[in-house]
Amino acid sequence: MLPIAELHLHLEGTLEPETIFAIAERNGVELPYADLEDLRARYAFSDLQSFLDLCYANVAVLRTSEDFADMTTAYLDRAAAAGVRHAEVFLNPQAHVERGVPLRDVMAGVTGPLSESLRTHGVSSGLIVAFLRDEGEESAMATLEAVLALDAPFIGVGLDSAEVGHPPSNFARVFERARAEGLHCVAHAGEEGPPSYIWEALDVLRVQRIDHGIRCLEDDQLVQRLVQDQVPLTVCPLSNVSLKVVNSIASHPLPMMLERGLKVTVNSDDPAYFGGYVDDNFDALMGAGHLCAADVATLARNSIDASFADPSRKRQLM
Ligand code: HPA
Ligand code: ZN
Repeated sequence: MLPIAELHLHLEGTLEPETIFAIAERNGVELPYADLEDLRARYAFSDLQSFLDLCYANVAVLRTSEDFADMTTAYLDRAAAAGVRHAEVFLNPQAHVERGVPLRDVMAGVTGPLSESLRTHGVSSGLIVAFLRDEGEESAMATLEAVLALDAPFIGVGLDSAEVGHPPSNFARVFERARAEGLHCVAHAGEEGPPSYIWEALDVLRVQRIDHGIRCLEDDQLVQRLVQDQVPLTVCPLSNVSLKVVNSIASHPLPMMLERGLKVTVNSDDPAYFGGYVDDNFDALMGAGHLCAADVATLARNSIDASFADPSRKRQLM
C-alpha cells in the first residue's frame, strides 16, 4: 500500500451508526430513531443539505471530551488500516458550542488523540478548524478568536456546510485574520456552488487548497489557473455520488481532472455517511476502471505533496 495523506475529512462525518447509538446510551441522549436500521434507512441523500441535516442532528450525542476523543481515535484506527499515514481533519466547533458543549472540552477531546497519533497509529496529523458558512462571518470570526484564545493546537482554517448562497468572499476578514496568525487556509468551493466560488476562494481568501472543486471543469480559464499554480483539489468521489453532485462513479470527472493536469487528491469527506473510507474511494474508482497503477501513484504522491506536513515527514512518505 502506498502511503497516502487524507486532506478532506470531517470528524463529525466519521460517526458510524453503531457509535452514535453507543454514545447516546452512555450519555442518556434519546435518539429520534427506533433502531440502527431506522437510522441507516435515512442515509439516502438528495443533496448536500439533506446530508448536513442528518449529520449535524447526530452530533447531538457528543457531550464530553471523552466522546470527542473516542470519535477521533476511531477515525485514526480506520484511517491507519486504509493506508493513511498523514491526516488533516476538519472539525466544526460551532456545531458543538451552540449545543452547550464547552469549546475547551471539544478541542481537548479532539487534539488529545491527534497529538499522539504518530506514536499510536503511525499517522501524523493536524486539525483544521472549519466554519459553518451558513452561520455567517461574525460567528466564524468569534469562533476563530475563541479557538485562538484557548491556545489549543490547530494548523489551519476551513469553510464548509451549505455552499450555495454563502460565497467565500463573505469570509474575507476571517481568513485574513487566520493568515496573520500563520494558519493554513482551505475552503470548500465548487461542490454544489459555481466556479465563481472557486475564483473567490483563490483570490479573496487566498486558500492553499480547494476542497472538492470539481465544478472547475465548467470554466476553462479557471482550470488553466488551477493547473498553472498546481492548486491541490481534495476530491471526494463517493461523497459526490452520495450527494448527487455526480450521477455515478462511472461518470465521475476525476479521470478528466487528472488528464487536464489538475493536482487531484482522493479523500473520504464523511466516510460514515457516504459508503466508505479513503481506501473504499480508491477501490470504487478502480472498480469503475478509472485508474491505472501510475494514476494511483500520482494521487498518492499528490496527497503527500499537497499536505501541510513538515518537509522531513513529507520526504519520509514520498
Ligand atoms: N461539503 C460541505 N460541508 C460539509 C461537507 C461537504 O462535503 N461534509 C461535511 N460538511
Ligand atoms: Zn467536505
